[in-house]
Amino acid sequence: MTELTTVVHDASEVVVGPGTDAPLERYENAAIAVVDGRVAAVGPSEAITDEYPPENASHAVDATGKSVIPGFVDSHTHALFAGDRSDEFAAKLGGERYQTILAEGGGILRTVRAVREASDDELRSNLSSHLDTMLAHGTTTVEVKSGYGLDTETELRMLDVIRRADERHPIDVVPTFMGAHAVPTETDAETYTGRVVDEQLPAVADQGVAEFCDVFCEEDVFSVPQSRRVLEAGMEHGLTPKVHAEEFVRLGGARLAAELGAASADHLLHANGDDRAALAEAGVTPVLLPGTAFSLGTEYANARGFLDDGGSVAVATDFNPNCHSQSMGFAIALACVGMEMTPAEALIAGTHGGAHALDRAGETGTLREGSPADLAVVDGPSHVHVPYNFGVNTVETVFKSGEPVDG
Ligand code: NIG
Ligand code: FE
Repeated sequence: MTELTTVVHDASEVVVGPGTDAPLERYENAAIAVVDGRVAAVGPSEAITDEYPPENASHAVDATGKSVIPGFVDSHTHALFAGDRSDEFAAKLGGERYQTILAEGGGILRTVRAVREASDDELRSNLSSHLDTMLAHGTTTVEVKSGYGLDTETELRMLDVIRRADERHPIDVVPTFMGAHAVPTETDAETYTGRVVDEQLPAVADQGVAEFCDVFCEEDVFSVPQSRRVLEAGMEHGLTPKVHAEEFVRLGGARLAAELGAASADHLLHANGDDRAALAEAGVTPVLLPGTAFSLGTEYANARGFLDDGGSVAVATDFNPNCHSQSMGFAIALACVGMEMTPAEALIAGTHGGAHALDRAGETGTLREGSPADLAVVDGPSHVHVPYNFGVNTVETVFKSGEPVDG
């Protein structure tokens, strides 16, 4: 027995995904019908409602004056943390540098202390409340990294909280192991790299609690050879590599990502044309994080360069204590205004591009026939209203597998 789960009809616009001869495949005066949680049909409202009468659906939405977009795929977050670093935001506005704060034991290392001290309940409740906010802002799939434990016990504890969140929350949560996020104060990068490879990674692989392995490849954090060691060991354990690359300086993380065939290289503020070409050739998705540049007050990544090279580009929030926004709508607005992406390019980067960065292209991030019906109804007549109406949440209702879900 099939069930007509949902019909959203009379929308001013329904965005399906990237177009073949236009930036977007989209319909005006459109409807979308969901059967058994998957998109059964999308197109002109009249034709769709003839075939799938809204009165027969478990959920019918009259979307007059509104638009429908795929749910956002936020492909880079550090959404599980404890403590409060708002004072560092204020200090950075006063001229303090992110790297200096970290070198003095603040930044990531301060969050590590807070996470080590937090109870499992506190960690669960923190993550769950951030996921609620993300869902209310239209995110239906999110990647969450560990990396605030920096010891085997706490890294595993974080990954367990992330796994449980995936089981219990409507959002799909994708787990990434990031033991190589910073060097704990009590040791040095080389010794700690050995611990990540010899102790943390085997334990993580043994528990089967991560899909990706990420590393902060950065001056004064992990060198290219150290990053390579971590990622290659991760690959031997079946974890797909990702790299925080060229964020503060151009160190070579992007070329490492290309060489290893990583799923993504992220940040890339200082990537040059050679790096871009290497990533494009290797099919590595660049994940651009304009919220981080906004929060740090630095230059944005060269999105136009990446787009011109072809291939998928992703935009994500990088939600973490240093970039404190769960909103993909805001990231998309920054992508438009700060990185000169068109609203259509930014929307695709925040949906289909995000799915690419998580090796889920074709599984989510579009509303093609057969896709899971993960979608957001936007209170505005087109997708352009997402960045146009910046600073507020334009997402009115979210459906996950065709079911209405609340943040
Ligand atoms: O992607 N750059 C490294 N990691 C995070 C920041 C984490 C933090 O400051 O807590 C990022 O921006
Ligand atoms: Fe990050």
